[in-house]
This record gives sequence, C-alpha cells and structure tokens, in this order.
Amino acid sequence: MLFNLLFMAQEDLFKKLIAHCKEYGYVFPSSEIYDGLSAVYDYGQYGVELKNNIKKYWWDSMVLLHENIVGIDSAIFMHPTIWKASGHVDAFNDPLIDNRDSKKRYRADVLIEEQLAKIEGKIEKEVEKAKGRFGESFDEAQFRATNGRVLESQGKWDALHNRFAEALNNADLAELKQIIEDQEIVCPISGTRNWTEVRQFNLMFSTDMGSTADGAMKIYLRPETAQGIFVNYMNVQKSGRMKIPFGIAQIGKAFRNEIVARQFIFRMREFEQMELQFFVRPGTELEWFEKWKELRIKWHQALGFGTENYRFHVHEKLAHYANAAVDIEYRFPFGFKEVEGIHSRTDYDLSQHQKFSGKKIQYFDPELNESYVPFVVETSIGVDRMFLQIISAAYHEEVVEDSNGQKDTRVVLRLPAPIAPVKLAVMPLIKKDGLPEKAREIIDELKFDFNCQYDEKDSIGKRYRRQDAIGTPFCVTVDHDTAADNTVTIRYRDTMLQERVEISKLRDIILNEVSFRKLFSQLK
Ligand code: GAP
Repeated sequence: MLFNLLFMAQEDLFKKLIAHCKEYGYVFPSSEIYDGLSAVYDYGQYGVELKNNIKKYWWDSMVLLHENIVGIDSAIFMHPTIWKASGHVDAFNDPLIDNRDSKKRYRADVLIEEQLAKIEGKIEKEVEKAKGRFGESFDEAQFRATNGRVLESQGKWDALHNRFAEALNNADLAELKQIIEDQEIVCPISGTRNWTEVRQFNLMFSTDMGSTADGAMKIYLRPETAQGIFVNYMNVQKSGRMKIPFGIAQIGKAFRNEIVARQFIFRMREFEQMELQFFVRPGTELEWFEKWKELRIKWHQALGFGTENYRFHVHEKLAHYANAAVDIEYRFPFGFKEVEGIHSRTDYDLSQHQKFSGKKIQYFDPELNESYVPFVVETSIGVDRMFLQIISAAYHEEVVEDSNGQKDTRVVLRLPAPIAPVKLAVMPLIKKDGLPEKAREIIDELKFDFNCQYDEKDSIGKRYRRQDAIGTPFCVTVDHDTAADNTVTIRYRDTMLQERVEISKLRDIILNEVSFRKLFSQLK
C-alpha cells in the first residue's frame, strides 16, 4: 500500500519535512549552537548539491538554450542612488502592526490574507463534504454556484477581498487597520484585539561603507538582484553586441528584513534569487510577457510533480514599475503559494537610472532606425523557495514489505534524477572477499561523471533506506558474482526494482536518467 503526503495532516507533513531536512544534511538553522538566527538557514552537504543543481537547471535553461540570453554576476554592494532610482528607498515597504499584549509584530496584509484563506477553507470543506455525500455524480461547479452556505461564504470572501485590494492599491494604512478590527482578527499568541496603528516598514538592510565616520556612506544590501542587471544593461549590450530582444540572467543573494519570517525557508531574510531581465521593443512587452509565462510554467512542470499542483495568480495590486504581473504558485503543504514572479516592468527601471545617473541608457534599433529605452519582462524565482517546493513535492512516506513479508515504512525523496544530490551509491554486499575494492573501482570509474557515494555499513536494506531518504536514484550492489562475470545489481529508488547489469553498461544507464537533456527536451 502506498500513502503519500495527500493523506497526512498537512501541518504534520511540514514539520516532518523540516526535521527530515535537518536529519539528512539538507538544511540547518543558521548559528544553531547559539540558538539560531531568525529566518536565516544554512544548507548542509546534500542541501548544497540540490541547490547547485536547481541553479544549474535554471541557468542552463536560460543561457544555454537561448542564444540571445547571457549571464552576469554583479556585486551585492551597489551605489546607494540605485535604490533611490529604483523606488526601493521610498516604496519597498510592508505594512506592519503590533499586538500590544503579546508584543508580537505582524504584517497587516498577511493577517487579512489569512482571514481570506480561512473563508476559502470553509468553502473547500463544504465542497469536500458534498463530494463525499454525492460520490461519482457530484457536479462541483453546480454545487459552488447554488449551495447556500458556499454562496454566503463566497459573498463574504468577495467583499473582504475587494476592500482589501482597494486599501492596498491606495496604500491606505488606516483602512487596513479598520479591516482587521471589523473582521475581529485576534493575535494568535495573546488572543486579543489590542492592536497598534498600521505603519510602513522598509525592508532593506543597510550598513556603512568606509572607514571614517565622516567619509562613511550608507549603503544597502540588495533586496533583489534585478538592479545589478539594469545598471549593467549598456555594458552588456555594447560588449556583447546584443540585439533586442535579448536577456540578461543572474543568480545571487538578496536580503530583506522580513517582518514575519515563518514557514522555514519559504520566507527568509537572506536568500538567493534567479532573475532574468528580458529587454524588448516598446509595445511588444505584453506579447513577451505571455511567452515567458508559458516557458516558465513548462520549466516547473518538466520536473514531473503534477501539472495540477501549479497555477497562475494574477496580481491585483501592481508594483510601482509593472504594467502586468503574475505569480506561478505551487500547492505547498500550507496551500498554494508563490514560487516565481513574472513582471512586465515597462521602461521604468532603465528610465529611472537614466534620469538619476544622467547617462544615456538607450538602444538604437536598426530596423526602426530610432533609439528608445527598452521595455523589460522579468522572471524572478527564489532558489530557496524552489528548493522547498521540490523537497515538499518529493517527500513521500510509503509502507513497503521487506523480503520476509514484514511491513515497514520507508521515507523516500522522489527527486528528479538530474537534480538529485547523489546520483548513485555503490555498496559491497559484505566488507570482505575483495568486494569493497571492486566497489571502489566502480566509483573510481564513475566519479568523473556522477556524484557517487560509497556505503558499506549496516545491512543492504538499511543502506537502501538511507539512500532513499536522501533521494539517491540508483544503488549498485557488488556481490560475489561480480568478480566472476563483471555484473552488479542496480536498484531503482522509485520502483525498488532490481536488475542485473554489466558494469560496463552502468555509465550509460545512469547518464540517460540524470542528464538535464531529459528536462530540457520538454521546454521547447
Ligand atoms: N525582482 C523582482 C522581485 O524580487 P519578488 O516577487 O519580490 O520580485 C521574486 O521576488 C521571488 O523571490 C519570489 O517569487 C520568491 O521566490 C523569492 N523571494 C522573495 N522574497 C523572499 C524571501 N524573503 N525568502 C525567500 N524567497 C523570497
């Protein structure tokens, strides 16, 4: 019998994921021996491999597969005027509210979003109940359109949602506070409604650069990597003789002083982004926006975690620089949440940098015989959030039978083979009779192509479980027949099937599964 995360209480599942990540060397709380640092995490020995593979999947899908996309690596420290020009100094704020009794701080918009989610939860419960009652003949669309309780909740949701969107669009902090009061939202810690006013809080970290007090300059840790691309637009366009449309890709750290840091690596204060700025002719940006939406969702879905677990969420409130914006959301254990943002950023950023720097930032279009400030379509995804998405999707608990018919639970990370940290484990059946030497010989041959692991400790069954738990797609066992006929047993993680193969065939069998080609071929 197989049961996976669908059947587990989702909260339990999330706790198990976090514990699993720590136990198996994927993610550790930062500075743990000093009791940790809130919303900062370290990646362990397998975590760093998975993270690097995610970055490779993204980078190669941009830079290798598109001849008109190139990459850069800009500095984290940048001239402070950049953040004035981009609007971050004045507008990169979250609305915060404190509860006077618990002294806890919250994001006002998140409190209201959680209230919306509660109403949504009520509706889903009604639908689930009805599904159970009516079975096969259940018409969900009709039920949603006619059931009294669902309609009542939907009405409340719509009213709250409209009011909330308007308050956000007008940056009306008093109205946000009023909504929290009208909805009787209480602090989850104190249980009271003793709230302060809502205030704006700038999310950028700052520090001083320079050694003397007089000469020191206040600089910011970048809250997005995008600006490093914009300020290098002319450098790349000229030195690479790039013709529009073209893109610049970058992977790098970003920092935000998040008010509410929760949900493990979902929202961190130090995180990594993979961003593409795609420069296009003005007036064509919405066409490119649609193209990038399609390409990016394919990139996610190629990983094989089920197309039904992804959806687009269109933004009601557009950022100050955008004329269209959509998120790609994934069904996390705590609900559908953003993994990636796709924004049509107009010519806002380049025009602002042109204005603030006094330098011309334009493109001469030989086809039109005119110069213009290019428009930009951006795709922006968090490496850490993608990591969490993959781990949540890959984590399965299954009841399996051992060779004696005994039932056992195995935890398996069904990671797509190209991004799995360890590709194969090579195991001598026993620690003598030359088997360890033969196993090492195989590793010495394959280690140039794959991340291999040698494991000789404990029973074969236990070793398989250990590899399942870190997501290794192949285990190769060396036994007494190996020396005689140069064959080994290869065991496949997901099916647990085993077959006898010649050692000389191992490389091709594994390469066929772990190559990024498999993923890239789906991106056409
Ligand atoms: N340049 C556009 C930009 O930064 P964003 O929607 O603020 O847009 C893009 O961020 C992506 O970065 C998000 O979809 C998310 O994956 C990731 N991200 C943003 N804030 C994050 C945080 N505090 N922790 C982890 N990932 C974050």
